[in-house]
Amino acid sequence: MSPFRLTRTLPKDATEAALRADVLHGLTCSPKTLPPKWFYDARGSELFDKITELPEYYPTRAEREILAARAPEIARATGARTLVELGSGSSEKTRHLLDALPGLHTYVPVDVSESALTQAGHPLIAERPHLNIHALVADFTAPLLLPRTPGPRLLAFLGGTIGNLLPAERAAFLTSVRALLSPGDALLLGTDLVKDESVLVAAYDDAAGVTAEFDKNVLTVVNRELGADFDLRAFEHVALWDAEHEWIEMRLRSRTEQTVKIPALDLAVDFAAGEDLRTEISAKFRKQGVRSELATAGFDLTRWFTSPGQQYGLALAIPARTTAARSPDFARITACVR
Ligand code: AVJ
Repeated sequence: MSPFRLTRTLPKDATEAALRADVLHGLTCSPKTLPPKWFYDARGSELFDKITELPEYYPTRAEREILAARAPEIARATGARTLVELGSGSSEKTRHLLDALPGLHTYVPVDVSESALTQAGHPLIAERPHLNIHALVADFTAPLLLPRTPGPRLLAFLGGTIGNLLPAERAAFLTSVRALLSPGDALLLGTDLVKDESVLVAAYDDAAGVTAEFDKNVLTVVNRELGADFDLRAFEHVALWDAEHEWIEMRLRSRTEQTVKIPALDLAVDFAAGEDLRTEISAKFRKQGVRSELATAGFDLTRWFTSPGQQYGLALAIPARTTAARSPDFARITACVR
């Protein structure tokens, strides 16, 4: 096996079909929404990397700090031979885990962004000639097939990306992750924690305007891929804290009454002045909530690491002994149902 393999689990046209379906659904629905996964073309991934270096955006630094301090402990507890990372992006923080796992056989980064996977992969190959890397271009919100590699497996889902899913989506996601794991395997889950509203809002509406540009990048993606005529200047980036659901919402607010044409969908979309398009939720967690969502999906929370100041939490969980996962609590419907 060559040390670097890349598998596209979705053909290019399937990605386009998914984008079309999401845009058609989200822009004809009220309130209007678009799923955050479409931020991450090459430019969007670059902008996200810039976000992680902003003074206001603390989660990346907080998580890196935990990983730097706790990677040896995580490595000892799991003894992983395969590290699977969902939403790996630049794989930057993962290095701590890679360094701490002496017996690691294969690293499986999974991301929707092929450019992020190849860019992250090249330096890794150079630095670790003996590590097998099997990159997967995949949408981890859809059912996933992992390559056959030696166990135990450690499946890492870092960055707080689980917060970008709605509660019902999180339940489905964690249940499908549980199905990928066997006894002896483990899940490492990064969760941003509830904190002061001003800190949270600043993290999603930075002074330099990088997050605003990132938010609007989804319109550039729709313009390019579906021939739409979104005028980026006609939208304002908004970040707000939803205290009931304990999540941040990013929105694009139409500055004027306008109609946007999307030729690939034969669609004209009307926006009222001040109407919002929701582009992301980023839920913030508490330890008890994480424990209970994990339990519902058939996991036991075995370690809980937090950054100084309780900004960020990293959960280590293992498949629960009891085989049957509990059925999830009924979630309030917060988006249109397909
Ligand atoms: C993808 C979860 C790491 O929700 O904080 C950053 C994406 N959006 N700034 C998050 C994001 C706006 C980010 N994660």
